[in-house]
Amino acid sequence: MSGTDDPGVTGRIDRLADELTALGGLADPRWRAALHAVPRHRFVPRAAWAVPDRPGGTGFPIDLETDPAAWWDAVYADTAIATQVAEGAGDPAQPAGPWTSSCSAPGVVVTFLEALRPLDHHRVLEIGTGSGWTAGLLTSRLGPGLVTSVEIDEALAARAAANLASLDLSPHLVVGDGAAGDPSGAPYDRVHVTCGVDQVPSAWAAQTRPGGVIVLPWSPGWGIGHLAVLTVTTDGAALGRLSGPAGFMMLRSQRRPGGPPAASATGAKAAVAATRTDPRGLLGASPGAEVAIAALVPGVRAYAEMAVDGSCRFWAIESRADDPAWASVDFLPGRDDYPVHQYGDRRLWDEVETAYQHWIAWGRPDRDRFGLTAAPSGQQVWLDRPDQPLPL
Ligand SMILES: C[S@@+](CC[C@H](N)C(=O)[O-])C[C@H]1O[C@@H](n2cnc3c(N)ncnc32)[C@H](O)[C@@H]1O
Repeated sequence: MSGTDDPGVTGRIDRLADELTALGGLADPRWRAALHAVPRHRFVPRAAWAVPDRPGGTGFPIDLETDPAAWWDAVYADTAIATQVAEGAGDPAQPAGPWTSSCSAPGVVVTFLEALRPLDHHRVLEIGTGSGWTAGLLTSRLGPGLVTSVEIDEALAARAAANLASLDLSPHLVVGDGAAGDPSGAPYDRVHVTCGVDQVPSAWAAQTRPGGVIVLPWSPGWGIGHLAVLTVTTDGAALGRLSGPAGFMMLRSQRRPGGPPAASATGAKAAVAATRTDPRGLLGASPGAEVAIAALVPGVRAYAEMAVDGSCRFWAIESRADDPAWASVDFLPGRDDYPVHQYGDRRLWDEVETAYQHWIAWGRPDRDRFGLTAAPSGQQVWLDRPDQPLPL
């Protein structure tokens, strides 16, 4: 956290706010006011790793001591900033391991807050306090005594508490597993989730009033993930549509084993085939196809490895640690068909390609025609209406 305030900070916040407005966000002046009242630099470590929130944005170190101009520029740009690596075992300024906390990019933070649409006097539960910046923005918008934020990592929670206290903000901070919510503050009117979830924990709807709203990054593993805005029903379910991209680190208990499969270990046993389907259509090209594949082939995640010559390798891998099935497809420019390798007791490319064919047969619906219902009895993805669950 910076102890010094740059005299130009008001101008920096205004420029960032103007940029977000030009991109179609920040329509509500109360959030612009909150950005000023809760300046982001108070939540960013002096040495960290910044990644611009745009396709292909590559990361770079920032250090307030050695290059203050670059540090301030990154803090007041639409840039995500890693604040913890490998649960504290790694250095956020040189991240070799997975990010386990970040101060999310302002654009996505504002998009989520605007999707939440809290009304005056609403009680809000945030899952994933992280740096405390979002909890601070919510507290500034709603006032004292209305915001509860849960963070699973004790060290992060302590840092967030100090960051917030330096601005005289005191949301109720809880150290614990956010999957359980915080019954002591229920019923909530809004639940704001800032870590990715595949299966929506039922505690969140149970602790929310009927008509209340849960905003979350739905991250089923196939593709980056989707902003879901769910409304709570009287029978403890939550349902609503997917409305935009959302890439967040996962809720700890729903993390998946990381990285492409150890193909070298099992590659020799893979079955070899070929496909005429361009694999780029299944990942990255259409969010609607990603939703359909995630719903029809659950428990499978995807990676793409791109090369400068335009070729790429797509991986599909089962989300389990013990001997997962996997498939790879190589897109090679100029080829009529593409090599496929499949390993394990499932033929994952065949399953995924079939799901993609269903999506085409449905008329290639885009992401916002899909929705999610999370009920105590289970979760369903639907097309157009909750009574049309997948598979159709
Ligand atoms: C993207 S960061 C949140 C950013 C934060 N809202 C901010 O304004 O800086 C995600 C956070 O979720 C936390 N988290 C992951 N699993 C959690 C869980 N089960 N319960 C509570 N917090 C969790 C991580 O430790 C991490 O700090």
